[in-house]
Amino acid sequence: EIGGVKIDKDDVVRDDPTNNVPDTIFTKLGLQLHRRDQHPLGILKNAIYDYFDMNYSTKFVKFDDLCPIVSVKQNFDDVLVPADHVSRSYNDTYYIDAQTVLRCHTSAHQAELFRKGHTHFLVIGDVYRRDSIDSTHYPVFHQMEGVRVFSTDELEKSGMDGTSYAAIDLKKCLEGLARHLFGAVEMRWVDTYFPFTNPSFELEIYFKEQWLEVLGCGVTEQEILKRNGRENNVAWAFGLGLERLAMVLFDIPDIRLFWSTDERFTCQFSEGKLGVKFKPFSKFPPCYKDMSFWISDAFTENNLCEVVRGITGDLVEEVKLIDNFTNKKGMTSHCYRIAYRSMERSLTDDEINQLQWKVREEVESKLKVVLR
Ligand code: PHE
Repeated sequence: EIGGVKIDKDDVVRDDPTNNVPDTIFTKLGLQLHRRDQHPLGILKNAIYDYFDMNYSTKFVKFDDLCPIVSVKQNFDDVLVPADHVSRSYNDTYYIDAQTVLRCHTSAHQAELFRKGHTHFLVIGDVYRRDSIDSTHYPVFHQMEGVRVFSTDELEKSGMDGTSYAAIDLKKCLEGLARHLFGAVEMRWVDTYFPFTNPSFELEIYFKEQWLEVLGCGVTEQEILKRNGRENNVAWAFGLGLERLAMVLFDIPDIRLFWSTDERFTCQFSEGKLGVKFKPFSKFPPCYKDMSFWISDAFTENNLCEVVRGITGDLVEEVKLIDNFTNKKGMTSHCYRIAYRSMERSLTDDEINQLQWKVREEVESKLKVVLR
């Protein structure tokens, strides 16, 4: 079962020519880390639930098992993502076939939940994005979406225009949530753009001497409400990244650890205990390997990272461009440094050399580049 919708993973046909979901990603479907009460992501989810339960007399309805396989319409069209937006590209999103994707955000469920009549809801789930590799990026992560629809009554009573009223309420709600999770914390609002909200904001919190973006939010575009049976209402929505917050709250240094089944990781967390600081069981040394090649026009870093992840699994910590030049003939060369490090054990030279040889082979055969 994947989510509330019964899907036999064997029934998902992945032989469409447009399919770009590798096995390493497909095997993550249905794991639902956010539904484990002893896992940092589950503990965080429950703490956010508590905040909404305590502060609102109208209950927020929670959905944490909606199917991550959604239509292009749900993921993009329904939330007004323009036809030419980069997030729709095969380079950024996992497609099962031309009409079906692994959701890249929990906003994919907004429209259907509006249509079903929900006015206060939270959607928590695994989301999927093709991306580069470093300690804070992993192609599968978890989001929580929150949506509140205001009644026409409440808006009238306020005497304000609906958009300003909703924006003020939204900021108050999320500042309260940040304090609930972090205690006294410095925060700031940054104006931004999302296709589905206007105005749109990001909330940043000050942590370890830098500003960290923790969520996106805004006042829902009227067009979305209108199309889904809420023509006369006003609403706000937010989407926050659970890993980002959990890394800060639990001191988790690398995003791969969330997927670890090593007891030395899993045993450190218990139900209901937010903010227990993770003690690294030992820091194994990284090993660096460089690789240079002439690229073609079709080359993208996301494709490179997928090849590397496909061969090395979670043994890769970072893939970083360290040199980039174009010669007189117009040929462009890239040099990438791959950092290998296991979170759980030390790696042997032999093992790493073998991985690196496989990576070189596949990079050359699959990415149409010329190794130097
Ligand atoms: N869906 C946005 C993202 O993934 C976050 C968001 C949700 C922003 C809802 C505004 C409103 O980045």
